[in-house]
Amino acid sequence: MHLRHELRRIFSAALSAAAAAGDIPDDSDDLSLTEMVRATTDAKFGDYTATVAMPLAKRAGKPPRQVAEAIIAKLEPGEWFDAPQAPVGPGFINLTVKNEALGRIVAEAAADPRLGVPPVETPSRIVIDYSSPNVAKPMHVGHIRSTVIGDALARILAFRGHEVTTDNHLGDWGTQFGMILWGWKHCRNDTAYADNPTAELGRLYRLVRKAADAKPEELANDPEAAELAAAHPTLARDVLQETARLHEGDEENRTLWASFMPVCQAEIDRVYTRLHVHFDHTLGESFYQPFLGEVVEELLAKEIARESRGAIGIFTDGEEKPPLLIRKADGAFLYATTDLATIRWRMQHWKPDRVLYVVDHRQSQHFRQVFAAAEAWGYGDVDLVHVAFGTVLGEDGRPFKTRAGDTVGLEALLDEGVARALEVVATSQAARAGDAMPVEEQQAIAEAVGIGAIKYADLSQNRATDYVFSFDKMLELKGNTAAYMQYAVARVEGIFTKGGIDREPLREQLKQGEISFSDPRERALALQLARFPEALDEVEADYRPSSLTAYLYEVAGAYSTFYDALPVLKAEGHERTARLALCDLTGQVLRHGLELLGITVPTRM
Ligand code: ARG
Repeated sequence: MHLRHELRRIFSAALSAAAAAGDIPDDSDDLSLTEMVRATTDAKFGDYTATVAMPLAKRAGKPPRQVAEAIIAKLEPGEWFDAPQAPVGPGFINLTVKNEALGRIVAEAAADPRLGVPPVETPSRIVIDYSSPNVAKPMHVGHIRSTVIGDALARILAFRGHEVTTDNHLGDWGTQFGMILWGWKHCRNDTAYADNPTAELGRLYRLVRKAADAKPEELANDPEAAELAAAHPTLARDVLQETARLHEGDEENRTLWASFMPVCQAEIDRVYTRLHVHFDHTLGESFYQPFLGEVVEELLAKEIARESRGAIGIFTDGEEKPPLLIRKADGAFLYATTDLATIRWRMQHWKPDRVLYVVDHRQSQHFRQVFAAAEAWGYGDVDLVHVAFGTVLGEDGRPFKTRAGDTVGLEALLDEGVARALEVVATSQAARAGDAMPVEEQQAIAEAVGIGAIKYADLSQNRATDYVFSFDKMLELKGNTAAYMQYAVARVEGIFTKGGIDREPLREQLKQGEISFSDPRERALALQLARFPEALDEVEADYRPSSLTAYLYEVAGAYSTFYDALPVLKAEGHERTARLALCDLTGQVLRHGLELLGITVPTRM
């Protein structure tokens, strides 16, 4: 049951009826009007309030209260809502969900695998391009955001009923390979490579990059890199040449590249396994190389691209502004060329209605231009969206770095999160009397809590802004954190264990009989639970998983208020059944909600 959909339906009927009677202007098929219903924050204004009378009054030049009254006169509240009272203030129309209706919604949702969430009416085919790290460089904290946000969006959109295809658009063809190739040829350690190939490639990458790019003062405390830089004054250029050779098809470099790729893939796969992230496809930049030449030719032939100082570009912002370059004067293709080839390939093979690019906000300009170019090229039907996110900052408010000033490696970060979570788990275990938890279980919980904390801290931020990475905050057991939410699930589910109650027969029973709520705290929780579909709508509206975390946090809060005040297991008869139903659905909504965010929930904590 989706209460807001129902409201939209009854408002749209009321608007048509009022328009037909000549009481309001006849623009009721303006859909945005029926969208003007929102959840109230204060129960004294009902559960939902509609603001539609105000814009309509303005259009009609009538007093808004009069318009509101005309709408109310035609409003058929149906089976879910009480008849509205007179308008409030300048013309707000407040609606309250019927008590019996809430009982029915909770009972039905508790027994429904979809928890009362209807699938979207018109499913779309959605491609999500996320994670997409540049391989052969160690993954760092910046990669968390794309990976975690993209994964949550993929899960949520699929649950809503869309046809989702995920694609990890690996940066597997970039200049980092020039450094590795050069390093391989000049400084490799074969024993180290045989022992741990990823570590050796990582070492070569860091060493050569430093020797090629670092300023003299940065080289001062790295004798090995300093020596290398001194011995090879043209290193920066030599490295670029290795990349160019790879791109031109040089045998040796291609063979080496092909031997490095599985190693790089294994490295990032370790992180994905740990994060429980999985991709339908991993078509990296290298996959599109065979098509780049023809893409440029086609864009030239269609006069979408043209020559500019020896290079080829697309003037997406007019003649005055710099074009989007797709071929350099030396013949090399660019990041944008690959992105255009990718759009073409996806349209040919997957025919998406929408493509989401979950990528750092610093690439906004790139995507704006690529999208404009794609539209000019004839891909105007697909909705291309840059789901941008801000930078991860340290507690000093600057981009998150280690004490030594390096970017923080992702695996080390996950390890630290889990280690810290283990301390929290062990401390709370030690404080608890009675049955000690086996160490392996504590470990498993720490993994779920530590990784969950890192994911949740990221997902609960407004993705568009920068956020401050703080282990202390994200592992707090109070407040809007994963640990608090995971603990809430364990608490709710614990009731059933404690009471020896089997939830399946309870759900069967709920399907048969009616339940009703008499206490306002029961009602408040029931209403929150009924809003799960609305929270998921909000996530999709602007691709913000934080709408879901905020919602789950409110559910947990409503549950605490309810549970702290009212007995459940000690209640009797209908009251007990109704409260158990609330507990059951709360547990399911929280658990499922966290799973949609990619967060594992231990059964006990
Ligand atoms: N590899 C790129 C980077 O690390 C991100 C790629 C995003 N996806 C895309 N289709 N451009 O900056």
